[in-house]
Amino acid sequence: MKEDESLRIEIGGINFGNPVLVAGGTFGFGEEYSQLIDINELGGIVTKTVTMEPREGNLPPRLAETPCGLLNAIGLENPGVEVFIKTKFPFLQKLNTRIIVSIGGEDEEDYFHLGQRLSHLEGIDGLEVNISCPNVLKGGFILGTKPKLVFSLVKGLKNVVDFPLIVKLTPNVTDIVEIAQAAKEGGADALSLINTLWGMAIDVETRKPKLGNITGGLSGPAIKPVAVRMVWQVFQKVGLPIIGMGGIMSTEDALEFILAGASAIAIGTANFVDPQTPFKVKEGIREYLNKKGIGNFRELIGTININ
Ligand SMILES: Cc1cc2nc3c(=O)[nH]c(=O)nc-3n(C[C@H](O)[C@H](O)[C@H](O)COP(=O)(O)O)c2cc1C
Repeated sequence: MKEDESLRIEIGGINFGNPVLVAGGTFGFGEEYSQLIDINELGGIVTKTVTMEPREGNLPPRLAETPCGLLNAIGLENPGVEVFIKTKFPFLQKLNTRIIVSIGGEDEEDYFHLGQRLSHLEGIDGLEVNISCPNVLKGGFILGTKPKLVFSLVKGLKNVVDFPLIVKLTPNVTDIVEIAQAAKEGGADALSLINTLWGMAIDVETRKPKLGNITGGLSGPAIKPVAVRMVWQVFQKVGLPIIGMGGIMSTEDALEFILAGASAIAIGTANFVDPQTPFKVKEGIREYLNKKGIGNFRELIGTININ
């Protein structure tokens, strides 16, 4: 990774060479993309969410295109933590970029075990705690929608791991600030937002849902205004560094998140359209700084001009 002082950023104790990351679940475990791009030029990789046990994921179809968006119901398909450690992690460990492992579970114990299991591994820079998974044992709701559960989970996890914890918030709540605050009080070092918006689509010819799982998560340009609004609200009220994501396809999109208060951004759905997007965005941010005569991008964070 080439050093560039104007793009460097520290978030929750993690030093990123630049603020452009790839979002969890849209970049696999990195290896799949290594033929296409120079991964070391990324600010960091967030892995696909890893769970304790292997998960086969949901019934197909798992993807459906919607106007300006993508509906997915992958169902957290992943090989489970043991196979991740044996077969996926060695590739990540050799990279010269920041590695954030996303973890997901059905209850607190799952998260604690995952944290402990990953703790001894050299080369992980932080954990992203995906709290958008359905809590099957407690009735199928999403863990990240209940402030008390978020507080308790983050606090407990903080006690068992030394990694910086980045808590990834679901937008499927009425008050995102309340959830972000709960994560902060639990000891989160940073926040990622947003995960996908809960949606569905129907094929009117067959009258069948377009997804095998019936409902799924909406991503892509359609969700960007919601994501920017949430980043802005959390930035003002919570005071934790934010990794912003949701529909970033271009430099201008990324700059909107940074002006709203994001210290870094992650590219998700755009990786499927053009795997070069993170680099185009990184270069674009550099050009914007030059054009505006700004010394480094950190000066831009949260500087939306409201008046
Ligand atoms: C196909 C697909 C798979 C995803 N898998 C995960 C995942 O495993 N863990 C996670 O935290 N988020 C996952 N996400 C959500 C993204 O990381 C991101 O938060 C969301 O898609 C919004 O960003 P985007 O509009 O740029 O894609 C997934 C998104 C997509 C489209």
